[in-house]
Amino acid sequence: MWRITEASYAIMRPILLSIDAERAHRITLATLARMPSMAPSVDPPELHTTVFGVSFSSPVGLAAGADKDARAVAAWNTLGFGFAEIGTITPCPQAGNPPPRIWRLPEHRALINRLGFPGEGMEAVAPRIERARSRGLRMRIGLNFGPNKDTPPQRVAADYATLMKRLGGMADFVVVNLSSPNTPGLREFQAPERMRAIVAAVRAEGEHTPPLLLKIAPDLELPMLLEISTAAIELGLGGIVATNTTVKREEVGVRSALAGGLSGEPLRAQTREVIAHMYRHTRGRIPIIGVGGITSAEDAYAHIRAGASLVELYTGFVYGGPRVVRDIREGLPRLLARDGFRSISDAVGTAA
Ligand SMILES: Cc1cc2nc3c(=O)[nH]c(=O)nc-3n(C[C@H](O)[C@H](O)[C@H](O)COP(=O)(O)O)c2cc1C
Repeated sequence: MWRITEASYAIMRPILLSIDAERAHRITLATLARMPSMAPSVDPPELHTTVFGVSFSSPVGLAAGADKDARAVAAWNTLGFGFAEIGTITPCPQAGNPPPRIWRLPEHRALINRLGFPGEGMEAVAPRIERARSRGLRMRIGLNFGPNKDTPPQRVAADYATLMKRLGGMADFVVVNLSSPNTPGLREFQAPERMRAIVAAVRAEGEHTPPLLLKIAPDLELPMLLEISTAAIELGLGGIVATNTTVKREEVGVRSALAGGLSGEPLRAQTREVIAHMYRHTRGRIPIIGVGGITSAEDAYAHIRAGASLVELYTGFVYGGPRVVRDIREGLPRLLARDGFRSISDAVGTAA
């Protein structure tokens, strides 16, 4: 299966990278959704890891945004991901911002997007997850939640609670996305007192909610970042997803007047710094999913050594295709062995 998907991708890549980015994404998703679902090759035991009480066969996951509506859940597993974060899912369907709204910056291996959570809404996602499970999909699934654009600020917590009520039971973990730069006002909910209110509302939806994680922006000032980490520990959250896309440009070496969130290689160093700060400040007490600029096993390993227990990628997959996932999966055990670590968890935070 590897060979077929990698060979097909090699043929499709120049076409996909030459057409409008969102159209290319739609074609990729439709192709993956039709791919016969097959059990992936077994992950090497060194990659097995248990984080926030959930066991993962590999720490390498698909980041949110790539499969917002759960169109190709099983395919991500076939491609070799150990887990997938589906979403951002909103309660009601919504169109998002007018296109064009994704741009490639190939010289930086980066993307800028201002999608604004287009999606079919939670009622479309639920049966797709159920179907994938009923067909035997065992890969871990994280569900990433966000509010609808027209939800007034005082109802934002209720949107997250609605999503938890409908979808929480299907998730291995839930991510409260407070960090998209494309939904006006959303990032202000990262302030600890507002974040606490959201967590309380979500938790009120059931005693047995899955582990709850927060997804944060890379652009937070250090004191705020540390306050969020402290609050996350106090609240007993499952973890933090660090980070979303950045609104920075020149500071990360990119010249572009396009508004939106920047992802990919220029984000890597900033994400790694956030991971390391958070790991040091919490002394590793809160698990971190490291996401931003991963394109190789070395990148994934460096995020892990900075303090990430799991990693995810999206833009690296857009430019590199399925081969990148295989390279990371095969490269990580070699890097662990080189440095004398027996498992992923042994390496977490050793360079923080
Ligand atoms: C086109 C695009 C859409 C995205 N949509 C979402 C989203 O809906 N929810 C979310 O939490 N993150 C979203 N992200 C952010 C990614 O999940 C990730 O945090 C970020 O891109 C950094 O990782 P990367 O450099 O590997 O892409 C999106 C990113 C891109 C490029």
